[in-house]
This record gives sequence, C-alpha cells and structure tokens, in this order.
Amino acid sequence: MTADPLLTLRDVSVRLGGRKGFLQRTILPVQAVKQVSLDLHSGEILSLVGESGCGKTTLGRTILGLQRESEGEILLEGRRVSGLAPEAARRARSIVQYSHQDAGAALDPWWSIGRTLEEGLKIHGVRNASERHDRVAAMLQAVGLDPTSARRYPHEFSGGQLRRLALARVLLLKPRVLILDEPTSGLDMSVQATVLNLLLELRERFSLTYLFISHDLSVVERLSDRVAIMYLGRIVELGTAKTVFGQPTHPYTRTLLAAAPRLTGRRASGPSLVRGDPPNPRLILPGCSFFDRCPIAEPACRQSTPKLQPVAGDHDVACHRAEMAGEEGQTASIGAKRRA
Ligand SMILES: Nc1ncnc2c1ncn2[C@@H]1O[C@H](COP(=O)(O)OP(=O)(O)OP(=O)(O)O)[C@@H](O)[C@H]1O
Ligand code: SF4
Ligand SMILES: [Mg+2]
Repeated sequence: MTADPLLTLRDVSVRLGGRKGFLQRTILPVQAVKQVSLDLHSGEILSLVGESGCGKTTLGRTILGLQRESEGEILLEGRRVSGLAPEAARRARSIVQYSHQDAGAALDPWWSIGRTLEEGLKIHGVRNASERHDRVAAMLQAVGLDPTSARRYPHEFSGGQLRRLALARVLLLKPRVLILDEPTSGLDMSVQATVLNLLLELRERFSLTYLFISHDLSVVERLSDRVAIMYLGRIVELGTAKTVFGQPTHPYTRTLLAAAPRLTGRRASGPSLVRGDPPNPRLILPGCSFFDRCPIAEPACRQSTPKLQPVAGDHDVACHRAEMAGEEGQTASIGAKRRA
C-alpha cells in the first residue's frame, strides 16, 4: 500500500430527509452515516459490509457527490473535495465512478447499448464519433461481450450480461476508484463467480481500486484486502480480511459471521442471529447503538459512544468491551444478559 490514500473520509456524517410532514408534524432526519473515517489505498479492495439500511449506499453516494455530507470532509488524492464549487468538485470527483446496485437502472431501456455507452463519452467531451465507436467496441470486449452487443437493447441481455454492461459504462470514463454497490446480488452462483473473476481481471487491467459494497460474506472474504463492518451508520470494525474473518471482535461482526456460510467452511463462534430489529435510525439514543441487541452489553455501554480504536496492528474496533468481546462473545447466549 502507498502512504497516500486515493480516498480519505474524515468524520463524515450524513443526515437525510427531515421536514414538516402532514399537518405540520415534524419528520426527523435519518442519521444515515455517522462519523465515518476511512482511507482507501491505491489498488486495494476494501469491502463495506452490514445489514440492510445501515448506510452503505448513502456512504457511496456521498463519496460520489450525489449526496452532501452534513459534517466531516472527503479528500481525493490528498485534495479536499468537500465544499468545492460544483464544476471543480465534478472534475475532482471524476476519478471515482459508481456501479449501481440495480445494473439495469443505469441503462436506458429505449436506447441501444451503443447509444447509451457513447452518450457517456459524449458528455465527457469525446467529440469524435469514430473514436467513441471504437472505444465502446473495445470496452465491450474487455468486459467479455461481443462488440455487436452495441446494436442490442437492455431487455435482450441476461442479469450477468447487464452487470458487464454496467461495468463497461463506468469504465469508459476511466475511473481510478470504482464503488461497486452489490455487484453480484440477484445472480445465481455460477454467474456470480464469473462476474467476480471479471472484476479481478478488470482491476489488474485498468489499475483500479474498489470500494466493494456487499451483504455476501463469502464473496467479501474471497475478494477483499480489507473489510469495514458497518452498523447503523458507523464503522464498528475495520481490518484486513484475514483479521476480521479470523478474529472477529465486535459483537455485531461475530454474530454476522456466525450466521454466514464461509469459504473456509469455518464459522465464527457466537450467537448466530442478531436479535431484534435495528433501532429507529431517526432516534439517536445515547451510548453504543448496538446496545439493545448486544449479548455482552453492560449499563456503562449506554454512557458513551465507543470510538473506532486499534485493538492490534491494523485492526480497529468500536466497542467498550473489545478486549473481552472475543472471549465472552463465544459463550454469551442470546438474551442471557439482563441490562438496566
Ligand atoms: N432519501 C432518503 N430520505 C430519508 N431516508 C433515507 C433516504 N435514503 C435512504 N434513507 C435511509 O437511510 C438509511 C441508510 O440507507 P442506505 O440505502 O444507505 O442503506 P444500505 O446499507 O445501502 O441498505 P441496503 O443494503 O438495503 O441497500 C436507511 O435507514 C434508509 O431508510
Ligand atoms: S460497547 Fe457495549 S453494547 Fe456496544 S458492542 Fe460493545 S459491549 Fe456491546
Ligand atoms: Mg444499498
């Protein structure tokens, strides 16, 4: 890894919504992302993992500038992009592209693939039609599709092929960082494997860096250099894939891994279900946000929010009881702890 990260997030928080509703009732905003600090280094694959609604997509959209951070700052190649004027921010952010959770949504159903892909190049200033045509044909080949696919329409492609097309669309814009939002969701296992292999190939070929958003822990384990576990807008554990999967420490990580099928056939020990539902993201309670679901919580966990802190080398955990979480997490049973 290089010393200078390609992307840096410093204490980034994002608030969404919040307004006067029907009959002047106040609708509270959602604290979708809370004080997230992360570095993404050139060439690495950093995975962002967490249950539905924890803020993964919001964080991706914020990095891209589609959503404004309410606090904190974002740096690309060491340069602050938060607060830049719109045109300067657009230029600075052009090294980052986003591959949408819904691959089909990125393609216009009424336009041929060639027209959609060429349009992206046109918007980015490629004026020469034959250059656009040649670049689209070469990119279709790079993602494993026949260049004649350019004449076809989105409904003529399978789910796996749509993923390839969505990748071609963003790669034409020559990003250095790709935010891949659930790139294999909804695909069957064999197609998933070919898409993942393609992602690894493309990373080599185009010297890409990935922020990989996924629910699928076996995919994350296979692909990632580092893993960030997110719970209710916060990063609660961060480390190399080997450490997070080998020595999961935060009680939430332990529960997630205990429930998931693993590449190695091993499962982490610990309660295999996260009990209950996550708290309402519109209500901010004091202390640790995992409190109500944590098998080893103690009253003190309500007093202050645990910060992400090193527990060893490159391994950070946000838990007041991180030292005992490993040990106690193995034996704590769901509901065994009574809390104040
Ligand atoms: N436009 C919006 N206005 C208000 N709240 C929103 C908006 N978009 C998302 N949210 C809320 O923000 C939180 C984070 O949503 P987000 O889509 O980032 O989660 P996610 O981790 O990507 O979930 P999933 O795994 O289901 O894709 C959720 O509570 C969601 O309901
Ligand atoms: S701080 Fe307390 S409630 Fe939160 S995860 Fe750690 S032990 Fe559980
Ligand atoms: Mg999402």
